[in-house]
Amino acid sequence: ALISMRQMLDHAAEFGYGVPAFNVNNLEQMRAIMIAADKTDSPVIVQASAGARKYAGAPFLRHLILAAIEEFPHIPVCMHQDHGTSPAVCQRSIQLGFSSVMMDGSLGEDGKTPTSYEYNVDVTKRTVDMAHACGVSVEGELGCLGSLETGEAGEEDGIGAVGKLTHDQMLTDPEEAADFVKKTGVDALAIACGTSHGAYKFTRPPTGDILAIDRIKEIHKRIPDTHLVMHGSSSVPQEWLAVINEFGGEIPETYGVPVEQIVEGIKHGVRKVNIDTDLRLASTGAIRRFLANNTSEFDPRKYLAVSVEAMSDICIARYEAFGTAGNA
Ligand code: G3H
Ligand code: 13P
Ligand code: NA
Ligand code: ZN
Repeated sequence: ALISMRQMLDHAAEFGYGVPAFNVNNLEQMRAIMIAADKTDSPVIVQASAGARKYAGAPFLRHLILAAIEEFPHIPVCMHQDHGTSPAVCQRSIQLGFSSVMMDGSLGEDGKTPTSYEYNVDVTKRTVDMAHACGVSVEGELGCLGSLETGEAGEEDGIGAVGKLTHDQMLTDPEEAADFVKKTGVDALAIACGTSHGAYKFTRPPTGDILAIDRIKEIHKRIPDTHLVMHGSSSVPQEWLAVINEFGGEIPETYGVPVEQIVEGIKHGVRKVNIDTDLRLASTGAIRRFLANNTSEFDPRKYLAVSVEAMSDICIARYEAFGTAGNA
């Protein structure tokens, strides 16, 4: 069944677990997420980015999610718009039938330029007023994703600041978070703690100085009733990097957010955990290996089936680690 994010995260908070929010762009990702949710009896958030809308088109994405709900009616699904860049973008998603939207006012309408606090409060509050009138939940974001290691904001493509950020911009301030939640009425708050989008988060396995789980604890202490969201939460599995590189890929050494650190965050108020890159890596690794080992095969269903299986295994591992399993 389609449910709002608020309803889903209230349950997660009551029972102390986290819900993965997986990005979807196509049929294979959608099926992998749902097959895994079904196997583990997990509620799930499926989210579509602007890039996903560009790739698949809004009607296809909408019907992909509705098809998932039809095929798996016993699984609670939240249909979420990831990183909306304006109230107008969020309004269109609400009209399309999304049960939740993210108004990311930490960045401007280009999805790249950091904004003022006042701007962020204004666009987020306007989105909350509109969305709540329609029974739709809202996620806001305070702070910018970026590397505490290098001061670099992150990727050139997709959503995220570009260029240099200060240490303060990359760590959400607990007092400001409290004021932001009070002024906007958001249902969930994305915070910055040193993670960034994509595969290149850390050049070494992260320690507390570059992945600030302690900051999450301080924010949770200040606003214990607010559902926190961790973006850039892919773990960048070393096994899949090795498979990609063994079968013709060239991905340099890189590290993600260890699952144990996410679990620590979940103990301190993190309820929504955004994951996209891990499914991309698993899918690419599985397809590269399959095609290298089956050189005369040309039926896309054959190599796409192994990608579904690889993505589904990642989803199962996350549902189990985050305590989502058994809560559908
Ligand atoms: O926000 C980041 C997600 O990984 C979405 O990425 O913009 O390439 O679809 P995308
Ligand atoms: P990853 O790139 O770490 O998977 O993060 C995805 C995300 O935060 C989507 O909003
Ligand atoms: Na989001
Ligand atoms: Zn994100």
